Amino acid sequence: MCPTKQKMSNKTGQDEGEEQGFRRRLLSWFDENRRDLPWRYVDDPYAVWVSEIMLQQTRVTTVLDYYERWMKRFPTVEDLAEADLEEVLELWSGLGYYRRARHLHRAATTVVDEFDGELPQSVKGLKKLTGIGDYTAGAIASIAFGQVEPLVDGNVMRVIARYYAQDEDPKRGAGKRFVWDQAGKLVDPGRPGDFNQGLMELGSLVCTAKSPKCSECPLRRGCQGFACGDPTRFPPTATPTRQGPMRGRVCVIYRFSGGEAEFLLRRRPAEGLLAGLWEFPTVEVDGKSWPTLKDLRGWLSGEAETDQDRDLSKEFGEIEHVFSHRRLRVKVHQWDVSALHWPTLGKRWRWVSEAELSGVASSALMGKVKRLWTEQSEDRQQEIPVSQNG
Ligand code: ADE
Repeated sequence: MCPTKQKMSNKTGQDEGEEQGFRRRLLSWFDENRRDLPWRYVDDPYAVWVSEIMLQQTRVTTVLDYYERWMKRFPTVEDLAEADLEEVLELWSGLGYYRRARHLHRAATTVVDEFDGELPQSVKGLKKLTGIGDYTAGAIASIAFGQVEPLVDGNVMRVIARYYAQDEDPKRGAGKRFVWDQAGKLVDPGRPGDFNQGLMELGSLVCTAKSPKCSECPLRRGCQGFACGDPTRFPPTATPTRQGPMRGRVCVIYRFSGGEAEFLLRRRPAEGLLAGLWEFPTVEVDGKSWPTLKDLRGWLSGEAETDQDRDLSKEFGEIEHVFSHRRLRVKVHQWDVSALHWPTLGKRWRWVSEAELSGVASSALMGKVKRLWTEQSEDRQQEIPVSQNG
């Protein structure tokens, strides 16, 4: 508890003064400090929608390139709706949380088929689309359509929890209701989109999680967290939800064809972890025990329908990767099949050349595996014996 915490009054007169001051200070700070971001210069609800989906759980600097490429390839909601999911996932490849791309694609077809290509303008209408929840609906409604609607993301949560020295966990129950209520009361009726973006911007540039720059904050005067002496106490740290560990073995199956390496990739099932993405064949299990080499061999025989003899015993590395909610550690194996005749592949398998690999829809973990394979094959090439009498 903060000893100097003020009880917030609900008397209209006082709240109005407080809220107006909050809005004025935040908006003039935002006008001076807003980052120069491409989606801030377009008057296109579809572009706002794409940017807001990409920005979820992802840094602005990472999103920039993806956003530019996406808008070049799918400049309108119709272009997106017409595209193959495969291509959509390829463009998203490396951004993580692939469900966002699948939902965006599905919702685009709904917008084209059922709403004549126009996004709904209300929060209620927007939330009917796959992948649009409270936050995204508030963002599109306020930024693209000027509706006086609040939004709450992680940054807004922190700014509001600190400003009101809120002790409750803002992610659930009463704490969550409090933050949404306050965001709703504060949103500026004249410039709701800028106000909401200003709150997010303040949270990401000034009111940061670990070392807030209170001396630069336009809201410091009314901030109860600051008045309490340690704003970082708010919001309280939630007990982290445990990420179930997983262990796996990855097999880089490759062959050389005309001097270039080709890799055998397998498509993951349409449901579950990394659904629908391509990977170097991987066997994974829940928990901290490693699947055995026998598991990998048996799994490959069943999946790739080959009973070729193989020696996978050599591991060439171990990699850890944290997905949205799981921590997966894998041992990496390789298998050079250049000299073998490989059976005809089913639909879930394909050979991909090294040059094509970066364009395939796959997870960041597979990028790490490929880098490891490249490093060790470079090492192998350098192991050419040096002549003693050279
Ligand atoms: N984070 C997510 N969307 C944002 C936006 N429009 N402005 C600033 N930060 C954001």
